[in-house]
Amino acid sequence: MTNRVEKILGIKKPVIQGAMAFTSLAPLVSAVSNAGGLGVLGVGYMPKDASIVEIEKTKKLTNKPFAVNVIMQEGLVEQADEVLEETQPPVVYADAMRLNDSLCQKYFPIWQKKGMKIIVKASYLKDAITAEKAGANLVIAKGWEGGGHVSFESTMALVPQIVNAISVPIIAAGGIVDGRSGAAAFALGAEGIEMGTAFLVSDELSINSRAKDAIIAAGDMSTVEVSYANDAPFRMIANKLSEQIRKTEATHLKKAAAEKEQGLDADAIRMGMYQGDTENGAIMVGQDLALIKSRKSAKQIIDDVLGDTRKVLDSLNDIEF
Ligand SMILES: Cc1cc2nc3c(=O)[nH]c(=O)nc-3n(C[C@H](O)[C@H](O)[C@H](O)COP(=O)(O)O)c2cc1C
Repeated sequence: MTNRVEKILGIKKPVIQGAMAFTSLAPLVSAVSNAGGLGVLGVGYMPKDASIVEIEKTKKLTNKPFAVNVIMQEGLVEQADEVLEETQPPVVYADAMRLNDSLCQKYFPIWQKKGMKIIVKASYLKDAITAEKAGANLVIAKGWEGGGHVSFESTMALVPQIVNAISVPIIAAGGIVDGRSGAAAFALGAEGIEMGTAFLVSDELSINSRAKDAIIAAGDMSTVEVSYANDAPFRMIANKLSEQIRKTEATHLKKAAAEKEQGLDADAIRMGMYQGDTENGAIMVGQDLALIKSRKSAKQIIDDVLGDTRKVLDSLNDIEF
């Protein structure tokens, strides 16, 4: 049986690998797409030429659908439009801290006319409605507990609200890492799942081995949100750097703290995730890292989560009350 998410995207398994800036690149994206899911290139903040190189590399590694992350923000979306025009990927994965109505209305029809499908990531109900109005084919409802930039509402609270409000298929994201959270996503009304953090320890993702070890070693209360001062908070593994950032935010006015944090995310992530400095750099993750206990291939991650999701869903009939 093929569900709506699979049909719209032309994929075999209703699993999306979330865009991860500078991190989800051709090897992981093609592995996810070759395994039947949808790989998403984390090129939203990359220079034009580097994005094009990643897209072309991905096309050489898979003939299956994959997506390109576009940040729906003035200054970034114009460049992305040029990249899409030149490379014509099958799917656009649009995201923003808060979606801008007019940018969506302007660009979605242009990309769809070229045959691209549009997935929009919404962390707020209003953004999901904006996305549907602008013609998005699918909406990802991403809760606060997920990796990357953090919003406000949890997956459990957000997904059903979005399911009630719009009619395009919903994919749940934020905190999904095994059969139990996978089954919960479908129970909430989602027709597919997205995972980001789960893929950080995949064999095909080339972050520093020390960063992967730190993810596997982490347990409960291991993550912390930082960078509220510049209105782009993100979640990272708590360490010396996160303590410094939180101290800065607690002892400075917002504007002064924001100045100190200028460019912090990109620099700190490079140091933490690529150079493996797990104390002075940032390892951007979701709360679900506490459940990740081993490295696997991308295909194994997808098959384990989907297989266990099916088992959990099948077992629910036995619950008595
Ligand atoms: C290291 C990292 C980088 C991310 N970068 C982006 C990004 O550039 N664009 C985006 O739309 N989402 C980004 N995200 C969010 C993911 O696409 C996805 O929505 C999220 O990881 C799902 O929650 P989970 O981590 O609990 O699975 C990032 C997540 C992580 C962990």
